[in-house]
Amino acid sequence: MALIWGIVVFTGVLVGLAVALTVAERFLVTYGICKIDINAGERDLEVEGGQTLLSALNSEEIWIPSACGGKGTCGYCKVTVLAGGGPILPTETPYLTRREVRTGVRLACQVKVREDMRLRIPEELLNVQLFAATVTSTRSVTYDIKEIRFALNDPPEISHRPGQYVQILAPSPEGPVSRAYSISSPIHEPNVVELVVRLVPGGLASTYLHSLEVGNEASFTGPYGEFELNEDPDVELVCVGGGVGMAPMKNIIYSFFRRWPERSCWLFFGCRTTRDIFYLDEFNELASKHPNFHVVYALSDELGPDERWDGETGFIHLSVDKYLEPNVRRQAFLCGPPPMIEAVQRVLHDKGVGGDDIFYDDFGTPAR
Ligand code: FES
Repeated sequence: MALIWGIVVFTGVLVGLAVALTVAERFLVTYGICKIDINAGERDLEVEGGQTLLSALNSEEIWIPSACGGKGTCGYCKVTVLAGGGPILPTETPYLTRREVRTGVRLACQVKVREDMRLRIPEELLNVQLFAATVTSTRSVTYDIKEIRFALNDPPEISHRPGQYVQILAPSPEGPVSRAYSISSPIHEPNVVELVVRLVPGGLASTYLHSLEVGNEASFTGPYGEFELNEDPDVELVCVGGGVGMAPMKNIIYSFFRRWPERSCWLFFGCRTTRDIFYLDEFNELASKHPNFHVVYALSDELGPDERWDGETGFIHLSVDKYLEPNVRRQAFLCGPPPMIEAVQRVLHDKGVGGDDIFYDDFGTPAR
C-alpha cells in the first residue's frame, strides 16, 4: 500500500512540475525575436520566439501541411531542422522514421522557436499559396457526399498536379483549423477548385463545407502532395478507390485523358450499396470517348429488396484481380480506407506491379 501511495505522490509531483514549467514558459519566459534561415539564405525570417515553428512559418505565409490543426496527430507538418530545434520530443517519434530522425526531420507543430534556427523546406512547399475563393455550386452526389465548386478570386489561378490537395481553413471557436481535401477538378480548369466532401458526424471541416452555399467565401492553402503521373505513354494507369477516394481519381482521370486521349486507364470503384454510387454516368460517358478507359464499379453489401445492380459485387480488390492481366507496365493510384489499400496492394504485387509504382492515400487523417 505504501508503495502505491509513493508512486501516486511521485507521479503527482512530476505532473505538477510539468504543468509549472509549461505555465512558466508561457507567461514568464520570453525568447525575443529569433531568426529563421530557410534553405541556406533563400528566405530569412524574424519571428517572435516562444511560438511553435508551424505558427511562426504560417505567420510568414509559409504554409506547411497540417491535417490535425497542430495537435501532433497527423504527422503531416514535417520540416528538416538543421540547427536550433532542441531535442526530439516523444510526441514526434511515432511519426518519424529512423532515417528522418537521423536527418533532422521534425514535426513543425511540436518544435518551439526558442533560438535562431536553420531549416530545410522543399521548394514546392515554399510555393504553396493562400487562396480566397467563392462557392459557385454545391451538389449532393450521394446521401452524405457533396461536390462543392469554388471560383478562385485571389490569386485567380492555381497551378497543381493531378492528385494534389488543398487545406481548407474551417472556422472554429479557437480560430481557423485546416483540413486536407483532394482537388477533384482537373488541372485544365485552373480558375476552379472542386472538392468532394463526405459529411463526417462531428467533423468540424466537413460540417462547415456542407453548410456552404453559393456565394459564400472560403479560404484554403495549397497545392500539396507528391503524386506525379508517369509520363511514359506505354504505362497503364490504374485508379482504385472507394467513397471520397473518388476526389483525386476524378482529377487524375480527366487530366490524364485530356493529355493522353489514347492511353490505357482503369478505374475500379468500391461502394457498399447502390446509395453510394456516384459519377458512374459521367465516367461511362468519358469511356464512350476513350476506348482504352475501363470503368468497374463493385458493390460489397448484399443487394436490398429494392436495389437493382448488374455490375460487379464483392470487395473492390476482387474486381482488380479479376480484370487486370499480369505483367503489364502500370502505375497505380489508390485512395480509400486502409484495409482496402492493403488488399489492393497485395493483388497489384501479385500482378507484378512494383511498390514504387503504387501510390496511395489511406485516409490516415483524423475526422474531417
Ligand atoms: S500539424 Fe503537426 S502533426 Fe499534425
